[in-house]
Amino acid sequence: MTVIDSPTAAGSGSAATDQFKGARFTSDTSPERLAAIATDTFRGLSKVIHDHGVTYDEYRVLKQWLIEVGEGGEWPLFLDVFLEHDVEEVNSTKFEGTKGSIEGPYYLPGAPRLPATCTLPMRPEDTAETPFVLHGRVTDLAGTPLGGATVEIWHADAEGYYSGFAPHLPDWNLRGLVAVDEDGRYSITTIRPAPYQIPTDGPTGEMIEAAGWHPWRPAHFHLRVSAPGKHPIVTQLYFQGGDWIDDDVATATKPELMLDPATDEQGRDVVEYHFVLDPE
Ligand code: DHB
Ligand code: FE
Repeated sequence: MTVIDSPTAAGSGSAATDQFKGARFTSDTSPERLAAIATDTFRGLSKVIHDHGVTYDEYRVLKQWLIEVGEGGEWPLFLDVFLEHDVEEVNSTKFEGTKGSIEGPYYLPGAPRLPATCTLPMRPEDTAETPFVLHGRVTDLAGTPLGGATVEIWHADAEGYYSGFAPHLPDWNLRGLVAVDEDGRYSITTIRPAPYQIPTDGPTGEMIEAAGWHPWRPAHFHLRVSAPGKHPIVTQLYFQGGDWIDDDVATATKPELMLDPATDEQGRDVVEYHFVLDPE
């Protein structure tokens, strides 16, 4: 019998768990700080339980659901959708350059290095989508070009799948690490991404549906821009007036991160976006 591995959105979510577990993270958090954060966390949860008079049935359903989130490998997905935007916000207040946004669960280190003017790796079927040219410059806060910068980009295909997390896609599809030229310029040709639905076939989707919320994120590019001696920025770019911009399930849009592309003679969407990096 041949088993055909058809992609599922929940499969992408659990692949994100495997990827995350591969890296070991540490933090120098002191015992006092850990105790303060944990105490406030339980205080917050205690208030919710008291304010809403949470029942034993609700408590048991919660326990069951938390177990399912873990078993389904959905913790990266759940945490990046509902909490990461706050972590990004509190950690970016001192920076003046380009605004950051959430990294999400689908970043992969080690993307192929591409020259300043490049086309992202894509499948023949991806070329049926609207071609998209994102170009611009990377500078410091004073506007000086950063010739040593890299612009790393990753985004979903038209069906909302990210390479590396969906077995039917070739490695590094719609991903690249672009080295800017000596004037800090880059020009990346790719395809226009579509709005993205976080998996509805797992426990996170079940909770979203049970609460009457929606699972959509607006169409977006993910970017990581860095240069020697500069603070690297992780961000996303969106499309002005696009669906879900004002109602992103991950609360990760910002007015400074909107693109308003024009169509060129060849029918491509073209837009300029400049990245500004803070010192380290
Ligand atoms: C999720 C997916 C994304 O592509 C993203 O940008 C943020 C979060 C998610 O499924 O959790
Ligand atoms: Fe994404």
